[in-house]
Amino acid sequence: IRAKPDSTSAYVAHYIIDRIRNFQPTLENPFVLGLPTGSSPLEIYRILVAEHKAGRISFKNVITFNMDEYVGLPQEHPESYHSFMFRNFFSQVDINPDNVNILNGNALDLEEECAMYEAKIKSVGGIDLFLGGVGTDGHIAFNEPGSSLASRTRVKTLAMDTVRANARFFDGDMLQVPQMALTVGVQTIMEAKEVVIIVTGTAKALALQRAVEGGVSHMCTLSCLQLHSYSMIVVDEDATLEM
Ligand code: GLP
Repeated sequence: IRAKPDSTSAYVAHYIIDRIRNFQPTLENPFVLGLPTGSSPLEIYRILVAEHKAGRISFKNVITFNMDEYVGLPQEHPESYHSFMFRNFFSQVDINPDNVNILNGNALDLEEECAMYEAKIKSVGGIDLFLGGVGTDGHIAFNEPGSSLASRTRVKTLAMDTVRANARFFDGDMLQVPQMALTVGVQTIMEAKEVVIIVTGTAKALALQRAVEGGVSHMCTLSCLQLHSYSMIVVDEDATLEM
């Protein structure tokens, strides 16, 4: 779906609201939402918060799982994905904090942390809708080029491209960007009942083209969605720039 820049986020936000409303979540049967960080979803969160404040959507019976988190960055650091999510979304809506799941990048046993995350997703019946963005190199969550398409939640070393792109959040200093992250795997995302990806701006045009027009490839993990039976990529005009 191709949308004008200012309507891309609105489309996705209202799509999510409709999905949750139609599901009619209850305490016994909650809606399970997978969520990303980054600049792409920021406006979506703003709209979800505004719609919540206007009384049009409740997150009381929504369980969330975030895609990823840096390894070794203190949770209270302003650029941890934990801080990002509470600042931009969770602290402003009526979600039960017990229903918020974010990988702990400071866990003593990172492998165990990842295994527990997968088990938790299974225990709530899987993810109903996974929202995501894409990195300039085509990665989804932190599934960098070369990630196995069968991967599950695990520790991942960030690609140079990603460290460079994320330096803007760390005073432009690549050395301050954590080198590793915990991330859901390609397979974890593929198992979601529905996947919705937002792609905006010319910097993402090449990644979008490779993901949609190229073959399914572990070098551009967004391309895995070609094999998902219920997924959607919402893009603005800039992202469709011919490369
Ligand atoms: C990071 C995140 C991804 C996100 C990407 C793009 O790598 N792990 O989930 O899609 O950044 O971020 P932005 O939306 O800021 O371009």
